[in-house]
Amino acid sequence: MCGIVGVLSAQPAAPLMMDALRRLEYRGYDSAGLATVTGGTLARRRAAGKLAALQEVLERDPLAGMSGIGHTRWATHGPPTVENAHPHVAGRVAVVHNGIIENHAALRAELVAAGATFESTTDTEVVAHLLDREIADGVSPEQAMARVMPRLTGAFAFVVLVAGQEDLLLAARRASPLAIGLGDGAAFVGSDAVALAPLTRRIVYLEDGDWAVLRRSGVQVFTGDGTQVIRREQVSTVSAAMIGKGNYRHFMEKEIHDQPEAIAHTLHAVIDPGTGSATLPPPLDDALGVAKITILAAGTSFYAGLTARYWMESIAGIACEAELASEFRDRRAVLPAGGVAIAVSQSGESLDTLMALRNAKSLGQRVLALVNVPESTIAREADGVLLTRAGPEFGVASTKAFTAQLTAFLGLAIALGAARGHIDEGEALRLVIALEGVPGRVATVLEAEERYLPIARDLARARDVLYLGRGLSYPIALEGALKLKEITYVHAEGYAAGEMKHGPIALIDEHVPVIIVAPSDGWFDKTASNMAEVRARGGRVVLLTDAAGAEALGEGADHLVILPDVAAEVAPILYAIPVQLLAYLAAVEKGTDADQPRNLAKSVTVE
Ligand code: F6R
Repeated sequence: MCGIVGVLSAQPAAPLMMDALRRLEYRGYDSAGLATVTGGTLARRRAAGKLAALQEVLERDPLAGMSGIGHTRWATHGPPTVENAHPHVAGRVAVVHNGIIENHAALRAELVAAGATFESTTDTEVVAHLLDREIADGVSPEQAMARVMPRLTGAFAFVVLVAGQEDLLLAARRASPLAIGLGDGAAFVGSDAVALAPLTRRIVYLEDGDWAVLRRSGVQVFTGDGTQVIRREQVSTVSAAMIGKGNYRHFMEKEIHDQPEAIAHTLHAVIDPGTGSATLPPPLDDALGVAKITILAAGTSFYAGLTARYWMESIAGIACEAELASEFRDRRAVLPAGGVAIAVSQSGESLDTLMALRNAKSLGQRVLALVNVPESTIAREADGVLLTRAGPEFGVASTKAFTAQLTAFLGLAIALGAARGHIDEGEALRLVIALEGVPGRVATVLEAEERYLPIARDLARARDVLYLGRGLSYPIALEGALKLKEITYVHAEGYAAGEMKHGPIALIDEHVPVIIVAPSDGWFDKTASNMAEVRARGGRVVLLTDAAGAEALGEGADHLVILPDVAAEVAPILYAIPVQLLAYLAAVEKGTDADQPRNLAKSVTVE
């Protein structure tokens, strides 16, 4: 999603902003731009496409000035052209913006009727015009901001630069994230602490509805009604050293290989490595009082939630549903008193998940945030937080955050099951030991990465691919299909293996690879029947299983992948790795951009 940066420095702003925008590239974008104030006037450079195109423009036509704003745009209103690229300028005001101004059409009509001329089809430009009109009426930029903020509806963050004001930035946020950075005689603002990491780690997070006045000497924050407030300064957990690909070709490859560590760290956030006992964060700490768990999430995080539903039912003995946040947010769901909602999100900023969290609260649920970014909005709005310890994830396709979410959920299920007496001490210990063994098994799978190359070549050439799984392997089939389609653009579907005969079986012929996720667990025999149905129709089977599964079914597979033996309950965490590797290696084979696939954004802050 769009990346925002603003700089008030003692050094030239353009290189600092380009550097910060590069660190925001992971969010996904399709055009970019910068504006500075130099000699009292606004100057702007923009380009369609990636930052390399903007860099070329800057080399031809450098941008002076020590105060500026910059942006990477993920198109919503209007195509990714230079005209629609941010910053947008009206008179003496330049604006960069993330999110959507919902009432932009009405505001635009009002401004046009009053004589304004628009350069772009974006919703952003109305903000620049509204502010410029107020300043033209003789009020200060700060007063203009106080007047304009109440007129805007929607979920957004924006930063404003004003001609003639070399020591001023105005910033505002409603639902979309924005972090202010404090420097020594400098001030910064960015979409997240990652963008600002090399500039400063002293961060002030704006609350929902806040707006701020930044000067080199300091920052003032106001609530939506114009009341000045103090927001606490924090030291960011993100350091510049954490942001790099190391020796890997892509962030995604690095993040796949980060998983043994990410899983181990997350595990120890829930399970005490000394005693093996698991602890429960609020509002799950009253384990016996939890009437139902409702998991709210989007995309890959939703698939972690779908997996967790099995664990919550079978290990914790608690009624549990996993809900797509984008659907749940507007539902009048009937939920019991004493219910707990768990909002799951790598970024902690997905707008659908945030809105679903708010809906769950309005329906009387207490909310736990399961997020990877401690300072995120979802973490701050929840009643309790459990952090996945995956470290910053930059690849647009989520990998290590997913297995960290699975790990945290299984740890929670064990702790809940033990606290509620649904499982006895011996069973809890068996599960904890199984979970403790996962990082090592994941490392073993990663060591055999080469094993997946011939299969990935096959997938890269396919038109359609099916992924099948039952029970705990069903969400992994869904996740495998999502990974493949988003980074290779090969059409893929994940299905509950038992559903295949109710429709998708019609798709199967010798051109369709069918990836069957089948550890030898309680569902294995039934999945074996579904594999036989695929083979009977000439489908090409890729079987992901363990030694016992290979013994039983290996001969029927065109490609056989044997994974280490693990307890059935932890298998989803392990089997996530081969489906990630297959998608990644297929993308490398096809030459698509695994880190920044077309049309996708890392943190989806629009509806
Ligand atoms: C897929 C992917 C997305 C995210 C989804 C939710 O690889 O990354 O489907 O899982 O956009 O994002 P978070 O977890 O940040 O709320």
